[in-house]
Amino acid sequence: MIEIENRRSIRKYQATSVDDVIITQLLESARLAPSGDNTQPWHYIVIDDKTMIDRVALVAHDQKWIRSAPVLIACVADIRARIKDDAELKLDDDTGLFELKQIIRDTAISIEHIVLEAVHRGLGTCWISWFKQDEIRAVLGVPEDKFVVTILSLGYPDEAPKSRPRKDLAAIYHKNAW
Ligand SMILES: Cc1cc2nc3c(=O)[nH]c(=O)nc-3n(C[C@H](O)[C@H](O)[C@H](O)COP(=O)(O)O)c2cc1C
Repeated sequence: MIEIENRRSIRKYQATSVDDVIITQLLESARLAPSGDNTQPWHYIVIDDKTMIDRVALVAHDQKWIRSAPVLIACVADIRARIKDDAELKLDDDTGLFELKQIIRDTAISIEHIVLEAVHRGLGTCWISWFKQDEIRAVLGVPEDKFVVTILSLGYPDEAPKSRPRKDLAAIYHKNAW
């Protein structure tokens, strides 16, 4: 599929904003993703406020390039899609709950729908996951029982990076058993 072949992580964006209608279409693709037991644990926070973008960039280890993106989409996994009681839960990278793995897995599928839909529409994205849960949640007002899987940068690319290396197919391909 051409979108898969053409996708790159984009870290330099044109100043052009992204139309709300297009953002809605990206989130519509996210919404249609498959998930275990159809639990759909994903939530999306669209961020186009410059001050908010600055604050997110700061907790993402101050990666300077993030500020060139006109839009960020915070991709959040909600464990309440699986654990429905009211018990207090604080999710972090080292939380051992199986349900956390499940909601991250499902949300990642949905996020990649956005990424490929974006390529289809001439847009670029980059996954940004280099942050601490406490810090990113505080910036975005996300409750402690949710997990921020990634922040996607989004905008019209102002660079055309070459493809980055991948393992050969032979190195990952097994037949019938490991
Ligand atoms: C879970 C995840 C987290 C990532 N976090 C960052 C990040 O914080 N900063 C960054 O510049 N790139 C980040 N990336 C982008 C990767 O560096 C990139 O996907 C990889 O080098 C392959 O390049 P490509 O996407 O252009 O094929 C992340 C990618 C993934 C999947």
